[in-house]
Amino acid sequence: MILDGRKKLNIDRAVQLIKSGDVVAFPTETVYGLGADLGNLEAVSKIFRVKGRPTTDPLIAHIGDADQLSKVVKNLSKMAESLIAKFWPGPLTLVGEKTGFVPDLVTAGLPTVAVRMPRHLIALALIKNSGKIIVAPSANRFQHISPTSAKHVEMEFGDSIPLILDGGPCEVGLESTVVSVVGNPTILRLGGISKEEIQDVCGEKLEVKIENRGQSKPAPGMLEFHYAPGKPLRLFSKSELKSFLGKRSNKKLTVDSTLICFSNDEKKEFQTFELSEILVLSNRGNSKEAGKNLYSTIRNADLSLSKRIFALECPDDLLGATLNDRLRRAQHE
Ligand code: TXA
Ligand code: MG
Repeated sequence: MILDGRKKLNIDRAVQLIKSGDVVAFPTETVYGLGADLGNLEAVSKIFRVKGRPTTDPLIAHIGDADQLSKVVKNLSKMAESLIAKFWPGPLTLVGEKTGFVPDLVTAGLPTVAVRMPRHLIALALIKNSGKIIVAPSANRFQHISPTSAKHVEMEFGDSIPLILDGGPCEVGLESTVVSVVGNPTILRLGGISKEEIQDVCGEKLEVKIENRGQSKPAPGMLEFHYAPGKPLRLFSKSELKSFLGKRSNKKLTVDSTLICFSNDEKKEFQTFELSEILVLSNRGNSKEAGKNLYSTIRNADLSLSKRIFALECPDDLLGATLNDRLRRAQHE
């Protein structure tokens, strides 16, 4: 059931559900989360069950204040404190040494825990009013597209969760950037804060380890296939797509395909190819706006009459790098 998350009455209902060991979907500035009390193993298990997510993939603890932070993480470095000062509340998740308070189920048995302070008023109200630290993965079925509206969450779970708090469309639209602060600062997942912004705080020491290829067992969060629509999706550079669509033998594919592109300029360039439809991530060609629209655009392309989705690479700086990362992981035949 979707209820207006701006109403105190509905937050109260959500708080009751969290306290009684149930799950609740709620908005954050990045994507909607499926939340449960970190300290209640039965509730945490429910998250994995409802999502169909393997328990080898750890969860993020969502906190509302410094007291809750020290309950879950210990020995935070100076660098971590600088990142917190600059980006919290906001779309940054830190991975640090976990305390004994955090159940192994939350961290998939790892000695580290992921933690973030969201900047959405409804998320913060849920955490503060329940007095709980809330673990929350994105509120989608495992390996599906992350939800950026209450309706998306309903499309994922129907009635299998008791409550979805509606806070309107998410402001950032991309998941948080995950940075390990154990040892050298390392980006583990690109996200709503760009690598450049993180680098401004961490300097040259910053490493990026988001790839998974060549490892026998994927590290958490690095699964190659993720964020995928039901239809086949293929990512192209501009020149690759032009040569692909230019081939006479591909004419039949073209008329059955939706193209997702970054800006209106690209839409104009590809209009001559008679694609089934062209969807634009940002009219003005702005990566923040494109980030906000990415997942709803992939969902719309998935719901349309076309048979497949083509996507064009975005300019690769700032949030464009995150957009390309998600589009690359959404690719499948
Ligand atoms: O924006 C977000 O982060 C959203 C909202 C709801 O807060 N949450 C989210 O959660 O994206 P989820 O579960 O979909 O992604 C969490 C990521 C996963 O890739 C997970 O593997 C990684 O964080 N992660 C969690 N704990 C970790 C740990 N101890 N070490 C390394 N990666 C970890
Ligand atoms: Mg997710």
